[in-house]
Amino acid sequence: MENNLRALITGASSGIGMAYAKYLANQGWSLDLVSKDPSRSQEAEKILNYSRANNFLADLSQPSEVEDLLSKLPTPNLLIANAGVTKYGKAGSISKQEKTDLFYLLCNGVIDLIEGFLPEMKEKENSRIIIISSIAAITPMPKSSIYASAKSAIYSYGQSLSYELKQNKIPVTVSLPGYVRTDIHKKAGLDHLKKNIPSWMWIEPYQVVKETEKASLKGQSRIIPGLVYRIVSPFLRSSLCLKIWKRLTKKR
Ligand SMILES: NC(=O)c1ccc[n+]([C@@H]2O[C@H](COP(=O)([O-])OP(=O)(O)OC[C@H]3O[C@@H](n4cnc5c(N)ncnc54)[C@H](OP(=O)(O)O)[C@@H]3O)[C@@H](O)[C@H]2O)c1
Repeated sequence: MENNLRALITGASSGIGMAYAKYLANQGWSLDLVSKDPSRSQEAEKILNYSRANNFLADLSQPSEVEDLLSKLPTPNLLIANAGVTKYGKAGSISKQEKTDLFYLLCNGVIDLIEGFLPEMKEKENSRIIIISSIAAITPMPKSSIYASAKSAIYSYGQSLSYELKQNKIPVTVSLPGYVRTDIHKKAGLDHLKKNIPSWMWIEPYQVVKETEKASLKGQSRIIPGLVYRIVSPFLRSSLCLKIWKRLTKKR
């Protein structure tokens, strides 16, 4: 089954982005897939094994590489800003350059990408924008303050954009996942979380995709994937929740 819709997915070589690529490939979308690491991108290309996908390499923490992508990629019908890393570290322990790069990757670069494509997206029919933020956007995260603040900023941008683009009939949906079974924590040296966090708190990448896609098609401005997270979200700022979370995430 083919369709004439085109999606751009950043961070498609693994985890949530890869799950999104599989989901849309099953529906016959044309896919432009962006990631940074050449060998992971090649591996992902083999796994996806989809003739209507084009793979691109770019370091999205660098403004010049986002600019370059904008000049060579066609305007998508669906833009999924997903690429990201997580960063653990006490306030003051992360270098200025690392903070700049992380903030650009998770927030300012997402804005540049969206706004680069927006004029032409407004001209198209069926345009949609999805931003994969994090539950960290609405939860205090000690020792992950840069990650949490960047996710919070892009959440806020997405919520405002969602209202702004209603007149253009472009749904903007920000997804706020909790713990998702991907390699992101291992890559950040946080492998202990797999052991410490109880299994009921983990959700699968496919579930994030399914619920996010459903919310976007319904025109919702935000979605918290996973029933567990939707139930606890009103209490996430409570001191009890924070105490439990600190205990679970502590390196032992
Ligand atoms: N997993 C979770 O628990 C969780 C929870 C909440 C939110 N999220 C968010 O979900 C998104 C996807 O994460 P994931 O869990 O699926 O992690 P993942 O499996 O590690 O995938 C991250 C993707 O982003 C790409 N990426 C990272 N840095 C990049 C850069 N500088 N330039 C271009 N691409 C880059 C990676 O490409 P390379 O392989 O080439 O580096 C990879 O394709 C992130 O924004 C993350 O913050 C994840």
